[in-house]
Amino acid sequence: MSLLIKNIKKLIQCRTEKTPFVSGKDMSFVPSIDDAYLFVKDGKINDFGKMQELKKINTDQVIDAKDRMVLPSWCDSHTHIVFAGDRSKEFIDRIKGLSYEEIAARGGGILNSAKLLQNTSKEDLYNQSKMRINSVIRQGTGAIEIKSGYGLSFESELKMLQVIKQIKDSSKMQVKSTFLGAHAYPNEFKENKDGYVDLVLNKMLPAFKKENLIDFIDVFCEKGYFSPEDTERIIKEGLKYNIRSKIHVNQFNVLGGIKIAVENNALSVDHLEVLQDDDIKILSKGSTIPVVLPTCSYFLGIDYAPARKLIDAGLPLAIASDFNPGSSPSGNMNFVISTACTKMKLTTEEAINAATINGAYAMGLEDKVGSISKDKIANLIITNKINSIDEVPYNFGGNQIHKVILEGEIIS
Ligand code: NIG
Ligand code: FE
Repeated sequence: MSLLIKNIKKLIQCRTEKTPFVSGKDMSFVPSIDDAYLFVKDGKINDFGKMQELKKINTDQVIDAKDRMVLPSWCDSHTHIVFAGDRSKEFIDRIKGLSYEEIAARGGGILNSAKLLQNTSKEDLYNQSKMRINSVIRQGTGAIEIKSGYGLSFESELKMLQVIKQIKDSSKMQVKSTFLGAHAYPNEFKENKDGYVDLVLNKMLPAFKKENLIDFIDVFCEKGYFSPEDTERIIKEGLKYNIRSKIHVNQFNVLGGIKIAVENNALSVDHLEVLQDDDIKILSKGSTIPVVLPTCSYFLGIDYAPARKLIDAGLPLAIASDFNPGSSPSGNMNFVISTACTKMKLTTEEAINAATINGAYAMGLEDKVGSISKDKIANLIITNKINSIDEVPYNFGGNQIHKVILEGEIIS
């Protein structure tokens, strides 16, 4: 199968040199070609360039993209899109004045989602999750990381990871799977927290790894959840299985998790709503990418991570949706990009880099997606007829997507 997209007003994020991610000042530039073509063959980007350089080409399909722009699909590197039911009641409780932490302390929050998931069959969980997957595909997401962490028992964590695997096997999106057994302590382990970490590390991790269900490991490093010491233990155990970590840190409190993550070669540290200058120094010396989640701050009404400071310090930055039932019940990356611009003061170019090439890097997919580069997978967005790429973040709440292409196939 082949597809030629011609007369593209602007082909965005074209990279001919191998670029795993972009940092600091380089984030303010997105290389693009005006009046361009893009040729896709067997699901991959085969060729691209200026229209006037287009040679005669044999193709099965042609799209005329006059007045439209083409970009690589969004890369959403932090989600909990597999979950059961919803927590809209907690949303109303928060509107009436309770905080996220107060709701969790009353047995709501993650434990509430865990109860719902434990009582949902694998088939039903898959169907509920697949609906969300289809909706984010329509909104331009072409690569996604999905975490477990609403199981909190051997059987239910396994069920979640199997559902993630089913999505991976059945979807044209690129999918990475993260084991987040250490998301919260189940009630049975309230008085025996070490016992739960033992269960995660000695029983769950080896069994799930053996079944090939884990790409990354994650910990919710936070007061009332897992301590920096637990976090270090979990990251180190993951490394024994050759599994790198992606860590939830600094959402509500500064506990020192960033130092531990960076020292142990974590792939990413995510959230960072509360951040100290020392943390930025530590990040600058390491090779861990910061990932910020603007719609989580929007929905919970908490501080936004200081994304501007991170970029200005020369760091790379990725943005992600954190799609989950409690703190960000939306996977709309268009809104994530828009919120990063309005609330975190990123430019359109910085936000696009953060949501494409850097998002791909933050889930180990930099060789496959995230830019218009030869031999990368043809996961693409064709925009509406727009005058400027700035119309993407400007149009908040909606999107500027005309067509979505995954593995070279138009998704209807
Ligand atoms: O990334 N912070 C921890 N985990 C999720 C929220 C989980 C939930 O509330 O269900 C997050 O925000
Ligand atoms: Fe999260």
